[in-house]
Amino acid sequence: MKNTLLKVENLTKAYTPGEIVWQKVNFELAKGDFLYILGGSGAGKSSLLRTLASFEQPNEGKVICHGINLQNSSRSDLSRLRKRISYIPQNLGLIPDLTLKDHVEISQMGLPPSEIVDEAQLQAYLQLMGLKDKWNKPIQVLSGGERQRVAIIRAISRKADLLIADEPTGAQDFEMTWKLMDLFVKLNMAGTAVLLATHDLEMVRRLRKRCAILKDGNFKVEDRS
Ligand SMILES: Nc1ncnc2c1ncn2[C@@H]1O[C@H](COP(=O)(O)OP(=O)(O)OP(=O)(O)O)[C@@H](O)[C@H]1O
Ligand SMILES: [Mg+2]
Repeated sequence: MKNTLLKVENLTKAYTPGEIVWQKVNFELAKGDFLYILGGSGAGKSSLLRTLASFEQPNEGKVICHGINLQNSSRSDLSRLRKRISYIPQNLGLIPDLTLKDHVEISQMGLPPSEIVDEAQLQAYLQLMGLKDKWNKPIQVLSGGERQRVAIIRAISRKADLLIADEPTGAQDFEMTWKLMDLFVKLNMAGTAVLLATHDLEMVRRLRKRCAILKDGNFKVEDRS
C-alpha cells in the first residue's frame, strides 16, 4: 500500500474575497516522492507551501499530513507535526541576533536523538555548505546566500520525512546550487519526500522529477519522469 505522507484535497486560497490565488488543488505525496512546484512569480507557490507546512490556512479544502488534519488540530498537534517537517521558507525566517548554532539548536529542541542528525552528519552539512566557520556567528553578519544555507541546515538538522523547500537555491551560485540539489536528491533517495518550489526551468530540465504547475490559479501535476 502507498505510504501517504501528505494528502491535499480541494484546497483553495483567496486573500481577498473573489481574488483566487489557487483553487481546487489536489495531490498526494508518498514516502520517497519528489515533486517540483513550478510557476511564475506571484503564481502562488509560497502561499501554497506555507499552507502545506501549516503556517497558513486555506479558505477551502483540507490538508492531511502524517494523518493529522491541519485545519482542525490542536496547537500541540500542530507543533508536533511541524517538528516532522523540514521547511525552508522563501523568506527564511531567521532571527538576526541569533547564531547559526542557536538556529540549529532551536530546530532540534525537545526531539529525541533518533530524530535529529548526529554530530558527524551535521559537520558534513556544515562542510558541504561552507558554513563551518560561521557556526557561532549571528545571522546579521552573514551574506544572503549564507543565510539561505542556514535556513537549509536548520531544516535538515532534524530527520523529518517531508522536506518542503521554497526556492531553496534562489540565492546560491551555480556550484552551490548543484551541491544542494544533490543533497536533496540524496535525502529523497533515503526516503524523505520532497516538495520543491522553483521557477528555474534549467534545474527542472537537468534533474527530471515529477512537476506540478501553478498557473492562473490552477494546479496541475505533470508526469515528466
Ligand atoms: N499575506 C498575503 N496577503 C495578501 N496577499 C498575499 C499574501 N501573500 C501572498 N499574497 C499574494 O498571493 C499571490 C501569490 O503569492 P506567492 O508569494 O505565493 O507567489 P510565488 O509564486 O511564491 O511568487 P515568487 O516566485 O515571486 O516567490 C501574490 O499575488 C501575492 O501578492
Ligand atoms: Mg514565492
